[in-house]
Amino acid sequence: MEAIAIQDIYIRQPYESYTEEDHETWRRLYRRMLPRWEQYANERFRTGIHSLSLSTDRIPRLEDVNKFLSPLTGFRAKAVSGYVPAFLFFDCLRNREFPTTVTIRNGQTLDYLPEPDIFHDIAGHVPMHTDRNFAETLVRFGECAHTAAAVVSEIRDPAERTRLLTSIFRAMARFFWFTIEFGLMRSRDGIRVYGSGLLSSFGEIQHAIDSPDVQRYPIQLEWAINQSFEIDHYQPLLFIVDSFDHLYSLVAELERWMKAGKLNHVAPGEPAVNEIDLQSFLDAGAGL
Ligand SMILES: [Fe+2]
Repeated sequence: MEAIAIQDIYIRQPYESYTEEDHETWRRLYRRMLPRWEQYANERFRTGIHSLSLSTDRIPRLEDVNKFLSPLTGFRAKAVSGYVPAFLFFDCLRNREFPTTVTIRNGQTLDYLPEPDIFHDIAGHVPMHTDRNFAETLVRFGECAHTAAAVVSEIRDPAERTRLLTSIFRAMARFFWFTIEFGLMRSRDGIRVYGSGLLSSFGEIQHAIDSPDVQRYPIQLEWAINQSFEIDHYQPLLFIVDSFDHLYSLVAELERWMKAGKLNHVAPGEPAVNEIDLQSFLDAGAGL
C-alpha cells in the first residue's frame, strides 16, 4: 500500500483555475436548491446559510467562508486534494477543521455524483457547522476516532487487531452515514433534513421527506451501527433524531459502546472498509 503524504492532502484552493462554466454550475446547483432548503431543511441549516453569506453566483472562496464561520463555532473549511484517509478526516473534525473538496461536478451531470465536490461540502455540510451543538457533535466524533485507535492499539495479535478495527470502523462509518450525511430531525413543523448528502441533493431532499418509499424511524444506535447501506441510489431507510443534543448524546454513547466492546462484532456488509482507512487508524494507534 502506498503511503499518502500529509503535505499532499491539504492544499490551497486553486481559485483562479475555476472556469466560467464551473461558476455557472455552482449557480445552477445553488439556485435550484434554495426553494428546497426553504421547504425541507432544518432551521439551523437555513440560519447557517444566511450567516455564511454564500454567493449564489460564484464558487465561494474558502477564506471568505471561514471569515463568517470561525467566529461562530471555531470551525474552518480546509481545502483538500481528494480522498482523506478516515482517521485524518476525523482528526480534522476534532481540531474543528473540515476537509473540503475544491473541485466541482461536471455541469452536464448535475445530479449524478459518486464523490463529494465543493457544492456538497460547502453548501451541504458547512452551513451545519455554524450551529454550536452540531459543531460539538462533530468534534466528539473526532474524539471517538482517537478512542478507536487507542482501543485497537492494545490488541497484540495483528490479525485480531485488524478484525476488531474493521468492525469498529464499520460501526462508525454507518453511524456517520445515517446521521451527518443522511440524518432527519424532528421539528415543530414536522420532519426536516440535517444530513448533508440530502441537503446537497435536489432530488433526494424531497424524496427523503415526501416519498412513501422511504422508511423513517427514530434512531436507535444498535440498529444504525448494524445497518448496511448502498451509496448508488436514493436511501430507502432514514433515521430521525430529536435534536442536536440528542445526536451529541448518541455519539457519546457510541464511544462508551466502543470502550465496552459492543462494536466488536457488528453485522457484516456495506460499507466495504478499505485498507487505507484501516492503516490510518493503526498508524495513529502506534503513535499513542
Ligand atoms: Fe459528505
